[in-house]
Amino acid sequence: MLPKLNVVPFVSVDSMMKLVHAVGVERFLVELAGFIEADFKRWESFDKTPRVASHSAEGVIELMPTSDGEVYGFKYVNGHPKNTKEGRQTVTAFGVLADVGTGYPVLLTEMTILTALRTASTSALAAKYLAPKGARTMAIIGNGAQSEFQALAFKALLGVDRLRLHDIDASASRRCAGNLTGFGFDVTICDTVEDVVLGADIVTTVTADKQNATILTDNMVGPGIHINAVGGDCPGKTELHADILRRSGIFVEYPPQTRIEGEIQQLPADYPVTELWQVMTGAAEGRANNRQITLFDSVGFAIEDFSALRYVREQLARTGLYEELDLLADPDEPRDLFGMLLRAQQPAAA
Ligand SMILES: NC(=O)c1ccc[n+]([C@@H]2O[C@H](COP(=O)([O-])OP(=O)(O)OC[C@H]3O[C@@H](n4cnc5c(N)ncnc54)[C@H](O)[C@@H]3O)[C@@H](O)[C@H]2O)c1
Repeated sequence: MLPKLNVVPFVSVDSMMKLVHAVGVERFLVELAGFIEADFKRWESFDKTPRVASHSAEGVIELMPTSDGEVYGFKYVNGHPKNTKEGRQTVTAFGVLADVGTGYPVLLTEMTILTALRTASTSALAAKYLAPKGARTMAIIGNGAQSEFQALAFKALLGVDRLRLHDIDASASRRCAGNLTGFGFDVTICDTVEDVVLGADIVTTVTADKQNATILTDNMVGPGIHINAVGGDCPGKTELHADILRRSGIFVEYPPQTRIEGEIQQLPADYPVTELWQVMTGAAEGRANNRQITLFDSVGFAIEDFSALRYVREQLARTGLYEELDLLADPDEPRDLFGMLLRAQQPAAA
């Protein structure tokens, strides 16, 4: 049978949730991290550009494209910290993969859930290279939509099983703790940032605020910890005091984007940072010693979304968890697009 050229596989939110459950959330996070790691190790084969951001007073809408020469991918994503007060998500996303040879899309998928999964997998993967050996305790500051995904990725990839939670809204911490019941964590909710970082090997900051916030100050950060800074990902939106950055070994995804969006926007444009992909290939050193503070200045880069789209596409045939979307016009004679439109016209009622 000839392939239906008009049809593109579409993964809805419902199908994505079924897919995550069919695979198992922790296995999904581990396998996705494997795809991300494989793509980071072939970093030089990708087209790279800082994401294209459209800023407004309330938030940002971004397009994140990349290609490896065979497949092209992009994600549409927003960031609107005030949205949750109106019953909407801070971050929503969808994405596309396309065949470079024909330019035809081969996948359209929800990426709100997938972004949370890929962000968590990337964070845990970075920590696998950077966190102190044997790390078991993680503090999470900001207990919103991304938080449980972060916790589960660190459990699945590193064996983190003690969580310390803090949020300015205590109900967010209680919900996070409740959602993680049965996943094998020992959870402590803390009222203050000073308290939440006590005894933590890893500190994840994943707050949402459209401003330069100071979630962590220098005096709260002891030697040897790994900071996974996720929430500072836009110009004018950071979470860490600059003094912490000056004491840390800083690891980033793609410097031209991170210098605009990450914690390092607070530092001079030539401040030395290490690219994570080079740590993965062995070209650069990761953690230098057990007293070094390591900082993954995460902003989220297009290649992580590409890996996530690639991973989802690989699951489709096996699981059948997609719909066929009539997305592409496909006239019998390719140049007769208008003829196809004419033939679709319903005869006028007599
Ligand atoms: N780096 C990446 O790849 C990446 C990917 C996705 C999201 N993000 C960012 O992560 C952040 C969190 O996203 P989300 O979807 O979980 O948002 P969310 O709005 O669902 O949750 C954010 C939480 O942070 C809390 N918070 C705000 N200010 C705080 C403070 N000063 N101290 C403690 N808690 C505070 C809020 O009460 C809320 O519970 C956003 O800034 C988002 O842009 C980054």
